[in-house]
Amino acid sequence: MRIFLDTASIEEINHINKWGIIEGITTNQKIFLVEKGTSFKKRIKEIIAATKGPVSVELTTKGFDEMVQEAREYWRINPRRIVIKVPMSADGVGLEVISFLAKRGIKINTTVMMNSAQAILAAKAGSTYVSLFYRRILDSGGDPLKEIRETREFLDSSKLITQIIAGSIREADDVVKSFNAGAHIVTVPYKVLIQMPYHKKSEETIKEFDESWHKFTKSPEVITVRVPLRITLGGGGTDLPFYASRHSGFLIAAAIDKYIHVSINRSYTGSNVVRYEEEIEAAKNKEDLNHAIVREALKHFKVADPVSITITSAFPAGTGMGSSSAVTVGLIKGLSEFTGTYNNINKQKIAELAAHIERGILKEEGGKQDQYITAYGGIQEMIFGQDGSVQIQEIQLIDENKLRLENNLALFFLGTARSSSEIQKKVAAEENLEEKIESLNFIKELGFRVRKALIEGNIDDIGLTWGLHWEAKKKLASEITNKRVDNFYKLAKENGSLGGKIVGAGSGGFLIFYTKEKNRLIRRLEKEGLKYIPFRFSTSGVSIIHND
Ligand code: E4P
Repeated sequence: MRIFLDTASIEEINHINKWGIIEGITTNQKIFLVEKGTSFKKRIKEIIAATKGPVSVELTTKGFDEMVQEAREYWRINPRRIVIKVPMSADGVGLEVISFLAKRGIKINTTVMMNSAQAILAAKAGSTYVSLFYRRILDSGGDPLKEIRETREFLDSSKLITQIIAGSIREADDVVKSFNAGAHIVTVPYKVLIQMPYHKKSEETIKEFDESWHKFTKSPEVITVRVPLRITLGGGGTDLPFYASRHSGFLIAAAIDKYIHVSINRSYTGSNVVRYEEEIEAAKNKEDLNHAIVREALKHFKVADPVSITITSAFPAGTGMGSSSAVTVGLIKGLSEFTGTYNNINKQKIAELAAHIERGILKEEGGKQDQYITAYGGIQEMIFGQDGSVQIQEIQLIDENKLRLENNLALFFLGTARSSSEIQKKVAAEENLEEKIESLNFIKELGFRVRKALIEGNIDDIGLTWGLHWEAKKKLASEITNKRVDNFYKLAKENGSLGGKIVGAGSGGFLIFYTKEKNRLIRRLEKEGLKYIPFRFSTSGVSIIHND
């Protein structure tokens, strides 16, 4: 299967030559007309120089002697490459010329043939090639495919080495069909050939892939990451390093449908800008930013060009929902994507890196539950090893139990913020260490009880567990509770709460109760000025919700 170019234009030859698919050239008088003004023989020589393979040159004279003489003239230009095109004429002179030249070793391309009968004669006369004119056959009401097929069958069965050239090609489909019918060669005009690589859908697909690649390789303009906040269902505090490093921690936490959003925008102001809560700051160098987590995250990811970072949250920072870690987790996920670092960073790496920034670099006191639960989402049980390792596994609640739990939980905002790190420092202090460890041992046991309750669907036991948990938690540091909190707790107990606790480190933030009389409890505590916050569990962990 070979493709020839049907042209006498050097420009066209040079263009298509680069594709590496052309193995010969065919010309005729009509083709040369387009090149009017050029010297015929000079152009033939140029074509030979510009190409490899046979170059078909058509005879223009009539009568045996004239045709043979003309053929010899052309053949002498390059006996190895020149093929003489002899028209199949009705008078048989063409066949005479073919027989004569073929016997003298001159290669012939018998041309302007419209059927297999003509082609068979040409082949028998010794023609190297027989040219069947595809479109002209079709224009005259014939079937070019049938003619090609019959000729091929004849050639194959008679063991002739003559090759079929399908000429007179007008469309890409003619090329395919000719080859399929048995043509050895198709000679294609430039106009047709340059259309052959085109397909509308290919172009659309290339465009689509290009756009994807562009997005893949180009740093985004803006990325927004969503990170869930969390409540702890059991074992809270056993992730603190002073405890976990001695006895291993066990904790169950759940992501809820209240979120932190971190938007990282390319900044064209020349400064890094950070917006969070009511604060806004700008600094030329990222090292000079006051927002410690943002500063360290930008340093970690070696962010070179200025960025504008906006952090929005459902609740103020320092309210015990894991918001600080949610910010760190969001920044790590976002900056990893923004800078193309770590290639689709996994949740464990995000959580560990967040813990490294908060606990390792910034020396914020605390465990690792927040980094893990905000990164993973869902309801997770976590084991904190003595070596600092974390094993995390999702607790798959059946829908009915999940719904019951959600419906029986009542979350209230105390309206006060505090530094969890300061409270955790007190918890971790050497003072009364044994007593604290004992409390945390008990809290861990309660954590296992919560796990059992969740898995067995004995949901109400969670409320009872929390009551015990709260008593033990209060022993960890005097700052964990205060008169106001104690008063709300008492009121809740009197109004249908089976048990509850403060969410997070303590002192302020949120109170959560397990109750089967939710409306009564809400009414009573709202009367005291507490804000009831409805929520559901969130299955999604940290995720990019916008990348442009
Ligand atoms: C090639 O050898 C033929 O001369 C050519 O394909 C004829 O094409 P046309 O029918 O477009 O003139």
